[in-house]
Amino acid sequence: MLRARIVGVGATAPKRILSNHDLEKICDTNDEWITSRSGIRARRVAAEDEVTSDLATVATKQAMEMAGITAADLDYIVLGTASPDMPLPSTACFVQKKLGAKKAACFDVIAGCSGFLYALAVGDKFVKAGGCKYVAVIGVEILSKFLNWNDRTTCILFGDGGGTVILRADEVTDKRAPGLFSTHIKSDGEGWNLITIPGGGTVNPASHRTVDEGMHAIHMQGKETFKLAVRNISEVAIEALEHNGVAKEEIAALISHQANSRILDAVADRVGIPKEKVVINLDRYGNTSAGSIPLTLDEAVREKRVKDGDMFLMTAFGSGLTWGSALARW
Ligand SMILES: CC(C)(COP(=O)(O)OP(=O)(O)OC[C@H]1O[C@@H](n2cnc3c(N)ncnc32)[C@H](O)[C@@H]1OP(=O)(O)O)[C@@H](O)C(=O)NCCC(=O)NCCS
Repeated sequence: MLRARIVGVGATAPKRILSNHDLEKICDTNDEWITSRSGIRARRVAAEDEVTSDLATVATKQAMEMAGITAADLDYIVLGTASPDMPLPSTACFVQKKLGAKKAACFDVIAGCSGFLYALAVGDKFVKAGGCKYVAVIGVEILSKFLNWNDRTTCILFGDGGGTVILRADEVTDKRAPGLFSTHIKSDGEGWNLITIPGGGTVNPASHRTVDEGMHAIHMQGKETFKLAVRNISEVAIEALEHNGVAKEEIAALISHQANSRILDAVADRVGIPKEKVVINLDRYGNTSAGSIPLTLDEAVREKRVKDGDMFLMTAFGSGLTWGSALARW
C-alpha cells in the first residue's frame, strides 16, 4: 500500500519580536493577564514588506533540504492559510514561482487554524491515490496584517510564522511503517460566526464602511471557541488512536495547534497524554493559526523530541468551524 511519509520539515517566523510588555504600550492589556489566560509571552510580527509566501518559501526550502529533494521534484504544493498574499491568485502559486517548482500543481486550503491539518489530509489523499511522489504541505500565516490592534480580545493572541512538511509516497507492507497512519478532518458550519474576518467577501465587499468598521480584521468569540476546541480536539484525537489501534502510551509527542496553554492542558488530560509529551511553543510565537503545527513539529524534530520511529499525534481546531487529527510515525 502507498503511505505518505514525512521526509522533511522546515519552519520560519519573522525576526521582529513583540512581547506582552510591548503590547501594554499599544492596547489596554497587561503581561499578567495575557500569560495567565493564554500562556503567550511574545509573538513574531512581520515587517511591512514581508509577505506570507516569503515565509512559506523559506520553510519549504528547509524542508526540501531535509528531504534531499529539489523544487523540480514537487508534484503538488498544498498551502493552508487565512492570511494569503492576495485574495487571488493562491499563495501556493506565489510559492511555486519563488521556488521554481515548475511541475507542481498548486492551491490554497482555507480552514482557519486547522489549515495545515486540512492541507495534510489533502496531501495524504493525493499520495494514496497514486501517481505522485512528493507533496509540499504548508501551513503559514501573517495574521498581524489582519488584526485590529485596538481589540485586546484578539490582537494579543496571534503571531506570524509557519512551516512545511514534504510528503513522499512510499510503498509499504507493514501498516505500522513510518508515515501518516490516518487523517481525520471535521467541520461544523453552524459555528461559522465564532471566528471570522467578515469584510472583503461577497457578504461585505470591501468599501470605506468595511474599513471604518474594522471588518478586515479577525473577530473571535473566545470563550465559546475555547470550550468547543477542548471538546472537539479531544474527541478527534481519541478517534485517531482508536482507528489505528494505537495506545495513548505509544505517543511520544502531541503536536497540537497552539491557541492557548489551558486548551493544551485540558486536551492532554482528556486524551491521557502526560504534559511532558505536549510540545509547546506558543509562549514564544503566540497563535500562528495554520502555521502552528509545522512550526511546532519542526522544533520537536530538531530538538529530538520526535525521533526515528516515534509516534506523534497532530491536532487542530479553528474557524469554520473546523478541526482534525493526524497520527504519524517519524
Ligand atoms: C481568548 C481567551 C484567551 C480569553 O480568555 P477568557 O478566560 O475566556 O477571558 P474572557 O474573554 O472571558 O475575558 C475575561 C475578562 O478579561 C478581559 N479581557 C479580555 N481580553 C483582555 C486582555 N487582552 N487584557 C486584559 N483583560 C482582558 C475581558 O474584558 C473580561 O473582563 P470582564 O470579566 O470584566 O468582562 C480564551 O477564551 C481563548 O483562548 N479562547 C480560545 C481561542 C482559540 O482556541 N482559538 C482557536 C482558533 S484561533
